[in-house]
Order: sequence, then C-alpha cells, then structure tokens
Amino acid sequence: LARGVTEPDLKGRHVVVSAGGTREPLDPVRFLGNRSSGKQGYALARTAAARGARVTLIAANTGLPDPAGVDIVPVGTAVQLREAVLKAAEDADAVVMAAAVADFRPETYAAGKIKKKDGQDPEPIVLVRNPDILAEVSADRARPGQVVVGFAAETDDVLANGRTKLARKGCDLLVVNEVGERKTFGAEENEAVVLGADGTETPVPHGPKEALAEIVWDLVARRMK
Ligand code: CTP
Ligand code: CA
Repeated sequence: LARGVTEPDLKGRHVVVSAGGTREPLDPVRFLGNRSSGKQGYALARTAAARGARVTLIAANTGLPDPAGVDIVPVGTAVQLREAVLKAAEDADAVVMAAAVADFRPETYAAGKIKKKDGQDPEPIVLVRNPDILAEVSADRARPGQVVVGFAAETDDVLANGRTKLARKGCDLLVVNEVGERKTFGAEENEAVVLGADGTETPVPHGPKEALAEIVWDLVARRMK
C-alpha cells in the first residue's frame, strides 16, 4: 500500500473506546469532575474506524463533534460508563479505556439545589468509591483473547508507577503519560510510553494524539486472537 493509505487491518473487528471524563453530581446544578478533554479517546476512535474497525465510542461529557462512522454512547457518571462499557465489551475484540473515571462520587445526591444557610458552615461532602471498570473488564474478559488497554497519567517515577498499575489492573497494555504543567490535559499533542503485560516497553515520541492512537492500535492488532 502507498504511504498515507490506511491498511484496513482492523476490518471485521469490534473495538470499544471510552473517552472524556465522568461527572459525579452533587445536586441538579453541580458535579465533581476532571479536566479530561476526550481528544485522545476520539483520536483512537477515528483511527480505528479508518483502519476498518466497527467502533463503539463511550463518550463522557466531551462536547466534541461526533466522529463519522462511529457508534456513540453518551454517558455522564462512572456508574453509567461502567454499564455502557460492559455491554459494548460483550462482543468486543478490544477495549481501550481512555476516559478519566472519577475515583469517588458523592455518597448522596440532593434532588433539590443545595442552599447556603445564614451563619452555618457548609456540610462536608462524603465520598464513596466508584467501581474500577478497567480492572473489572480485565478480570472478566467477555471473549477469550480480548485485548484490554488502560491509560494512566503519572508523576514522579512514571515507569515504576505504570508497571505497578498495569499489574494491579490486569490489562494487556497501559499507556503511561507523564503529567506536568502544560502537559496532556486539553493539549493537541501527547508523549507516552506503552507498557505491555508481556514486559514490553514502547516509547512514543512527542506528537499528535493520532500518532499515539496508531501505535496503540498497532500493539493491539498484534495481540488480537
Ligand atoms: N479506571 C477505571 N475505573 C476507575 C478508575 C480508573 O476504569 N474507577 C481506568 C481509567 O480509565 C484508566 C486506568 O483505569 O484507563 C487508570 O486510571 P488511573 O486513574 O490512573 O488509575 P487508578 O487505579 O484510579 O489509580 P490512581 O489512584 O493513581 O488514580
Ligand atoms: Ca484514578
């Protein structure tokens, strides 16, 4: 094939990508959220579709335009994201968790707007743990040979933290980004190392999120049964 022409190496495959960041509501007008833009997940969805895959994109609060040729499932919270991912994963050849999932959610949801009371301190917000979707998908593969990929943003000893997280999650690949000022969140470009459960380490030079996405699909395609 000529340079620039995409080989349809994912034809006949169903891949699931989660993107964006979950929002955990406190009341009808407020939520706990994060700064994930969804751009990396959308780049993964676009590139997989261009390589011939059937793509289910589980989109959490991205506000990005729908990519063509992709099935989109909009979700809000981590619990909704879990439901959507588990359902789509049932017949998937690969699941890529690019979404930033809130680790905690408020224990209670106030059906009416929370109001200030004169002379009173605010009520503390009690949080409870959200389910770990990546660990669950990795532990209960819906299909033998299903490839599961996670993303992690780390500081300090990025590679050591990444290795520990890969083992804890039980996924096949973990894309590790170093976070710092101006890095990663909302940016058009990305730099990462992809760690494999088989001990491999694939450095990805600074570049567009599409380039990282292509490398992720290369590594996934090689592991698909
Ligand atoms: N993830 C998930 N469910 C959660 C939290 C995270 O599926 N409740 C997924 C993310 O989508 C990502 C990967 O796990 O692909 C790593 O997320 P990260 O926040 O780095 O992992 P945590 O286990 O939450 O670790 P930390 O305490 O460092 O936040
Ligand atoms: Ca987390």
